[in-house]
Amino acid sequence: MQIAIDGPSAAGKSTLAKKLAEKLNIEYLDTGAMYRTLALYFYEENFTNFDDEEELKVFLSKIKIDVRNNKFYLFDRDVSQDIREEEIGLLASKISSYQIIRSFLVEKQQEIAKGKDIVMDGRDVGTVILKNADFKFYLTADVNKRAQRRYKDLLVKDPNADFNKTLEALKKRDHDDMTREHSPLTKATDAIEIDTSHLTIDETIDEFLKVIRGTCNV
Ligand code: DC
Repeated sequence: MQIAIDGPSAAGKSTLAKKLAEKLNIEYLDTGAMYRTLALYFYEENFTNFDDEEELKVFLSKIKIDVRNNKFYLFDRDVSQDIREEEIGLLASKISSYQIIRSFLVEKQQEIAKGKDIVMDGRDVGTVILKNADFKFYLTADVNKRAQRRYKDLLVKDPNADFNKTLEALKKRDHDDMTREHSPLTKATDAIEIDTSHLTIDETIDEFLKVIRGTCNV
């Protein structure tokens, strides 16, 4: 069984997708973390010449990215924590607008999913990576609600985090992800939309399971 979960930043995709995969006892892949891993590489190597396709291709040909047990590796270094930095998230959003980068990662993501029961979350899982997924969900939530969730997470790391800055950054991220030329964030025509603004994690999981159990015996 293959399940696609897409939606904007801070809609709860990763937490929910991971939990759903656990419930169903199948694999989980956070595709956004792969964009972040690549972004970390560009950041650490000071690579900024994204518009030079040849240079970008050469650079990509040298990278070694691996995913093992939900941990992300850059040249065998576990970068699962480092990629969560806000700056890396912003760079991930920027680099995700380049088609060469998207193709590079989509190929890897499809390879990982091949022949497997898996839940994948991201922006283009239902529209590009797993076009034939058995179930497609599109998670949304009010932008203020999403900003509150993100702000709560940020406060743990930084007591000086600012709610308004968090809200503005999220709005910008939505705009960038939804208006980019290649594979913009959009709801697949056959995806089921779930608004998580007023749902708890468990309630949302129940919504997923209702849909899945309606067709499958799990
Ligand atoms: O889900 P996230 O915030 O960790 O993703 C970081 C960025 O990566 C996001 O702003 C857009 C990009 N992304 C993408 O373009 N396609 C995906 N399937 C997943 C993420």
